Amino acid sequence: VSANFATLVADGEVHRRFYTDPAVFDAEQTKVWGGTWVYVAHESEVPDPDDFVTAHLGSRPVIVTRGADRELRVLLNRCAHRGSTVCVEASGTAKRFACPYHGWTFANSGELLAVPYPSGYQTSRARSLHGLAVVPRVESYRGFVFATLNEDAVSLRDYLGAAAERLDDFIDRLPGGKLRVLPYAHRMKYAGNWKLMWDNTSDGVHPAFAHRSFLHAAAARTEDPTMLSQFARDLDRTGMYMEDLGHGHIFLDQRPGLAGSHWEAQRPVPGLETYERALREQLGDGADALLEIAPSSAINLSIFPNLLILQNQLQIVQPLAVDRTTLSFYLCVPEDVPGDLAPLRARIAEDFPNLVSPDDLEIFERCQDGLGIPELEWVDASRGLGSDLEVDVDGITRAPVTYETGVRAYQREWARLMAEDVQPRVAWAPARVSS
Ligand code: FES
Ligand SMILES: [Fe+2]
Repeated sequence: VSANFATLVADGEVHRRFYTDPAVFDAEQTKVWGGTWVYVAHESEVPDPDDFVTAHLGSRPVIVTRGADRELRVLLNRCAHRGSTVCVEASGTAKRFACPYHGWTFANSGELLAVPYPSGYQTSRARSLHGLAVVPRVESYRGFVFATLNEDAVSLRDYLGAAAERLDDFIDRLPGGKLRVLPYAHRMKYAGNWKLMWDNTSDGVHPAFAHRSFLHAAAARTEDPTMLSQFARDLDRTGMYMEDLGHGHIFLDQRPGLAGSHWEAQRPVPGLETYERALREQLGDGADALLEIAPSSAINLSIFPNLLILQNQLQIVQPLAVDRTTLSFYLCVPEDVPGDLAPLRARIAEDFPNLVSPDDLEIFERCQDGLGIPELEWVDASRGLGSDLEVDVDGITRAPVTYETGVRAYQREWARLMAEDVQPRVAWAPARVSS
């Protein structure tokens, strides 16, 4: 039955059940969130032995731990006794996780260390006591950690493909090519399907409409063009483009739309002048180069299914239900932060989730509402289909920023995954309980 879900995606249109059917959502847990590489953390969030952060593989809560042996592991956050999560903190440092329900205690490698009243386990069941379930495959690319339950998945490097080089560009923009992700998130929820975010991530047409009030506010305070206001001009003349990188990954390059300096295109943000003055005092002539990397990277790199890189942030997509999604924004800063660059990047990064994202979230909820109409089955995604402006550049499809090439790209990868026969698997950490 599940193989039929792939037929919800057609060429240039998609069936409403793609967004609304709880059976599709359930199947995605196996085929997408259990079947392909999912971003779980950045290594800089867990720099030292015993550090951890929590994350999700779709609906599966996980703990990303760095053991005393420095090895990264991804543990399923589910007690081996009755199923409670054993870690409720978003991040921290811990050698052990003690379940709050009956006190079973696990090492940060997943091993079961202690069970209260152990003499109660005398039966054959007792011999099969085990630790936490462990995600069998964990791989990193330049500090970005991904995990999958699919033992047959291609290597992470092959999965990323051309997206790896775009990720290099994002990282190498920083001094020494060293990026740090702060382990704190700005989280928001919306009442809509997680893939509505994917429709939006490469959508170059919507800013002039959905974000009109924001563009007006920015224009009222400064000369055009500011960052994002390039979307309010004649889009087909800006040179901005998007690329279908394969495996559902999408790249949108806003840089050709900015004339020259990123710093000069920075829209007004509270405190900007104060930080600029401080940086110029701290660094003298060196300040100009750093001010240039304080504003948005002006790229959107979306790595299917849950890692969206935009501005100077990571935006993580987490599905909660067919019509419920969490977005978490994480700030990226240079690893060795010169002067006041980090707080300046933080101030600049704040305005997007606060002033721009709420427009998108409102639109997603309206889409979910409209897509609930059973008689109106198909949703258009055909803009640019068959156009000769969709061109092949070194094996990558490149298209104007107004096209829905990126929408079709991720939907095609989704359909491919939904048609695959995958068996997500876990490994088990052993028990070291003496009874
Ligand atoms: S559910 Fe964890 S100890 Fe009982
Ligand atoms: Fe938007």
